[in-house]
Amino acid sequence: MLDAFAAEARARGVAHRTVLGRWPDAAPVAGTADVVVCHHVLHNVVDLVPFLQALTEAAHRGVVVEMMAEHPMAWLDPLWVRFHDLHRPRPATTDDAAAVLREIGVEPVVERWERVVPPRQDPAWVTRRLCLPEHTVPEVADALERLRRPRLAATLSWPVG
Ligand SMILES: C[S@@+](CC[C@H](N)C(=O)[O-])C[C@H]1O[C@@H](n2cnc3c(N)ncnc32)[C@H](O)[C@@H]1O
Repeated sequence: MLDAFAAEARARGVAHRTVLGRWPDAAPVAGTADVVVCHHVLHNVVDLVPFLQALTEAAHRGVVVEMMAEHPMAWLDPLWVRFHDLHRPRPATTDDAAAVLREIGVEPVVERWERVVPPRQDPAWVTRRLCLPEHTVPEVADALERLRRPRLAATLSWPVG
């Protein structure tokens, strides 16, 4: 993924640097940059405040974060109920991330948009995600007929300094 990022930045003639590591632990090694970007990681982060604070502290000019509108696996919640009677908590959303940013004194610009690429929704993969045996694939396929994986994403950005 870092190689793909570097190749895209090179193709656009944008100066860039990549650091392999866990954020914000990697912040001291990463140092600072004019613009700090974060692509589809927020939904995986448990403690958002130090993560977002370190992004902000690493930027001279601004931060740009892309994320899905709600947790990318939340669309499977009805299937967890159907196949396991497991009721999952309400999914985290872009609004939750924006609220955390406001708590630390940052007012983000939130741009909402729809992904063009059709998201992965094949029954065998979903069956594995749901920890179900292979013979249930047809039943999962049937249930998927009535579900649509959301494509809504958001870009959050905020100036620094
Ligand atoms: C949905 S994937 C997105 C991967 C990639 N950024 C992309 O957009 O294709 C989420 C990634 O976040 C990474 N991740 C989760 N917590 C992280 C953290 N604290 N610091 C850095 N990466 C983290 C996971 O290892 C995983 O690769």
